[in-house]
Amino acid sequence: MPEERARPVENTGEVVAAAIIVDGRLLLAQRTRPPELAGLWELPGGKAEAGESAEDALRRELREELGVEVSGGDRIGDDVPLPDGRVLRAYRVQLVSGTPAALDHAELRWVDERELGEIDLVGNDRGWVPDLRLHLNGR
Ligand code: C5P
Repeated sequence: MPEERARPVENTGEVVAAAIIVDGRLLLAQRTRPPELAGLWELPGGKAEAGESAEDALRRELREELGVEVSGGDRIGDDVPLPDGRVLRAYRVQLVSGTPAALDHAELRWVDERELGEIDLVGNDRGWVPDLRLHLNGR
């Protein structure tokens, strides 16, 4: 009988994260879960659904998490492979309407370049800091 080995279920697809920059400040959101990430700060976003484009996923996630409408979606920084097989990608988006509210996070903060270097980001987002700095400098 051939040896049967349990294979981990590999998820495919993308997790999108949004860089919203207004007046030289970047919006960061403080996670509430899971326990090991609670209290750390991230670019808001989440998992794209099957068949959903990155831009549509950004629009849906930011409506759900922040109560705002956004547009656009130019890539920022490198792909971040996640342990579950998904890939995390950051996008620069424009705020179209609404004022961001922490509907799914503990708190929101607008950070300038100096504060971005000092705040405790989730590990996955740290590699984007140099690119985010360029955007905060008005590139
Ligand atoms: O927010 P949510 O839990 O749906 O995100 C899905 C996965 O993407 C999680 O593993 C989360 O840690 C990761 N993520 C991240 N950085 C972000 C957004 C999500 O590491 N800015």
